[in-house]
Amino acid sequence: VRIYVPRDAAAVALGADKVAAAVAKEIADRGLDAVIVRNGSRGMHWLEPLVEIEIAGERIGYGPVKTRDVVSLFDAGLLSGGDHRLCLGAVEEIAFLKRQTRLTFARCGVIDPLSLIDYEAHGGLSGLRRTVGMQPADIVKDVTDSGLRGRGGAGFPTGIKWKTVLDAPGARKYIVCNADEGDSGTFADRMIMEGDPFVLIEGMAIAGLATGATRGFVYIRSEYPHAIQTMTEAVEIARRAGVLGPSVLGSGKAFDVEIRTGAGAYVCGEETALLNSLEGKRGIVRAKPPLPAHKGLFDCPTVINNVISLASVPVIMDKGAAYYRDFGMGRSRGTIPLQIAGNVRHPGLYEVAFGLTLGEIVDEIAGGTASGRPVKAVQVGGPLGAYFPRALFDTPFDYEAFAAKDGLIGHAGIVVFDDSADMLKQARFAMEFCAVESCGKCTPCRIGSTRGVETADKIASGIEPEKNRALLTDLCNTMKFGSLCALGGFTPYPVLSAMTHFPDDFAPAPMVEAAE
Ligand code: NAI
Ligand code: SF4
Repeated sequence: VRIYVPRDAAAVALGADKVAAAVAKEIADRGLDAVIVRNGSRGMHWLEPLVEIEIAGERIGYGPVKTRDVVSLFDAGLLSGGDHRLCLGAVEEIAFLKRQTRLTFARCGVIDPLSLIDYEAHGGLSGLRRTVGMQPADIVKDVTDSGLRGRGGAGFPTGIKWKTVLDAPGARKYIVCNADEGDSGTFADRMIMEGDPFVLIEGMAIAGLATGATRGFVYIRSEYPHAIQTMTEAVEIARRAGVLGPSVLGSGKAFDVEIRTGAGAYVCGEETALLNSLEGKRGIVRAKPPLPAHKGLFDCPTVINNVISLASVPVIMDKGAAYYRDFGMGRSRGTIPLQIAGNVRHPGLYEVAFGLTLGEIVDEIAGGTASGRPVKAVQVGGPLGAYFPRALFDTPFDYEAFAAKDGLIGHAGIVVFDDSADMLKQARFAMEFCAVESCGKCTPCRIGSTRGVETADKIASGIEPEKNRALLTDLCNTMKFGSLCALGGFTPYPVLSAMTHFPDDFAPAPMVEAAE
């Protein structure tokens, strides 16, 4: 019997390692014939640690399990799916999981992340096997036809980026995976790297074959030690199995991957700062052009893609461009792993085709607030994303639809706030975050963010509120149009959206108003 206890960092933070140890002890003490598999997370964070038992091909779940529950679980007949107050029934039937369309995350939480056998048994490597026999231009065409757009946040068509690198002259080319997942409330990259690392390796190898790159780097933030460990082990396993190396799957074409660790700067998630960091330089933003696709790592043509963009490629190459493109709406094709966090009843990862409305996501999937109080605001797209009020809950999850409402879907992080949130404080936080994380290269971001904090403080203190509100708006416009990269350029989104949709929070206290 296989007992699954997640090794995912979120589950570990909630006690999964201790639960696994307690389960191992019970197995030994009771002399049972069972093995523990440390799988990834299914992404239902409120149920972690989620312990699963496989019976006749079906997985029965128990959660959230604490170490003190383990003895009673075995007493209740855990190995035969026995009844217990923590029993959730068949895991695949849990509504949160059942309603998803899991293409990229199909194996995450299901398989042993470091078993290549498990990976292949669940459809892994099929995409790469098909790709090794194809011409680079045909691989690029499939990715272009699939409609896949960059899942890091900007939504640039992945196929067009790959074509630029394929067509760029150069003896050496690189694939760089941006795993510096810095957005607050996002964890999709981490979950894939910890729960299904081979899918990322497979996606990178396909990118290499498509563009003529023979080396790839995964740049992982240092705050992700579990992901670094899992990816490092997975690369070694893939090398030993001939998935990576001088002849990928016996094709005679070379591709290898190295894992690199960042040092904790948010701006190193910006692609050119990331390249500098990879080259051993200070993580400072480079001016574009030249685009990394023309002149990237060590001045060579370089594909830089987010983890999820690359991890979505194997299913496209396996099932075909049309299969993937048939999901979604408008120009947003395929699926998107929503990362639901903040004040919600059901936080977690929800992969679904584009097009659900924000209201459906917050009220139905996330189950509303954990506090039971009304939702006040939802920040979509990380710390640089706009705050949306309930009045905009009919916005469908789609790149263009969010842009039309002065927002962005970014890396698909969704952070929910109830009516106790103070949006002036949130606006101040956006400016403070920018001030702390600014690389310092350009003035609107470096100086403007600090002035933004001061101006927000003046509004909060009731000092010339009208003048300071106008000043804050003016400052935001200067940052938006005068900054070199998205950090300074997008910080105005949370600030301006908070001011536009929650003006009451920016009004001075009545006492001060009276004094004026
Ligand atoms: P961008 O729009 O400048 O570029 C997007 C990508 O397309 C880049 O890789 C760029 O090199 C490439 N590109 C543009 N034109 C091209 C062409 N003609 N040929 C080939 N490639 C081309 O956006 P940027 O600055 O790279 O990213 C901004 C986004 O990053 C924001 O939307 C934000 O949501 C997101 N972001 C994500 C974070 C995360 O944790 N995932 C953190 C912070 C920001
Ligand atoms: Fe650096 Fe900020 Fe300018 Fe970006 S906007 S280059 S982070 S100073």
